[in-house]
Amino acid sequence: MAKWTADQLPNMAGVTVVITGGGGGIGLVTARELARAGAHVVLAVRDVDKTRRAVDGMRGEFDVRRLDVADLDSVHAFAGSYTGDIDVLINNAGVMDIPAARTAQGLDVQTATNYFGPFVLTNLLLPRLTDRVVTVSSQLHRFAKLDLDDLDWRSRKYNGLAVYESSKLAVVLFSLELQRRLTDSGSRVRSVVAHPGIARTGLVTHSPLGFVNRLPFLVQDAERGALPLMYAATQDVPGNAYVGPDGLFSFTGHPLIRKPGRAGLDLAVAGKLWQATAALTGTDA
Ligand SMILES: NC(=O)c1ccc[n+]([C@@H]2O[C@H](COP(=O)([O-])OP(=O)(O)OC[C@H]3O[C@@H](n4cnc5c(N)ncnc54)[C@H](OP(=O)(O)O)[C@@H]3O)[C@@H](O)[C@H]2O)c1
Repeated sequence: MAKWTADQLPNMAGVTVVITGGGGGIGLVTARELARAGAHVVLAVRDVDKTRRAVDGMRGEFDVRRLDVADLDSVHAFAGSYTGDIDVLINNAGVMDIPAARTAQGLDVQTATNYFGPFVLTNLLLPRLTDRVVTVSSQLHRFAKLDLDDLDWRSRKYNGLAVYESSKLAVVLFSLELQRRLTDSGSRVRSVVAHPGIARTGLVTHSPLGFVNRLPFLVQDAERGALPLMYAATQDVPGNAYVGPDGLFSFTGHPLIRKPGRAGLDLAVAGKLWQATAALTGTDA
């Protein structure tokens, strides 16, 4: 069977896609390709000027707006100020293995960026979503030890990589519970997960794992790494699909529906995680 590429994107005229953190890395490639296919792309980013420069000259329609997804006030401000319809929300913004820090609300920055912020943003935008939510995870979710009693890393010693792994399992479980809720309420909106395999981007540049970017056989470029996001955002995949590269260990390759780790399929944990996160973030969900 022919491998899926961005050339197979459908005509997306009339489709509005919101991409968080789309000013660089795989988010920017996704934005560029979806806009090229005709989508109206809303880029929700920390640095509006940098992102405007990044999309300058690209074909298509971009609306660049300010969002710091780690800051829940900014999440509420973005959701309140963007009043248009949204067909697809891509929760792409992320950080990996950063030093310990707290947000304005006192939350762990890495967990807030990768999980709490997307949780709140999705719930706020959900009433206006018509097609799907794509949440970006990582194969590293397979190594996570999620602690439902310490989601915000207050009682455990902070370890940047362990925090990343937990946040990426949390979003897989978030997507699972979201799909369950959507199905129960009769909604046609889908919740799906995409992961890029290992893609050469700015994600690990400040981390001891930065050497990974120099391993040519293990890593693909951002162009290829973005394909699972585009596939998950546009193809007729079922709710709960976990889309990633088709190569060995799903490190590189073309998009295909794969399976998350076993912990990412636990509906009971997903339900408890949802309740705990809603309480922690003050979300009515
Ligand atoms: N690259 C990989 O191998 C890999 C593997 C698995 C999963 N992922 C996931 O893929 C997603 C994209 O990462 P990437 O590889 O493209 O890395 P990247 O080049 O570092 O891009 C991450 C993007 O997220 C944005 N961002 C970070 N914190 C933010 C915040 N608080 N609010 C809004 N935007 C924020 C960054 O904005 P700035 O430009 O302002 O920094 C940047 O545009 C992440 O969720 C990451 O965990 C990547």
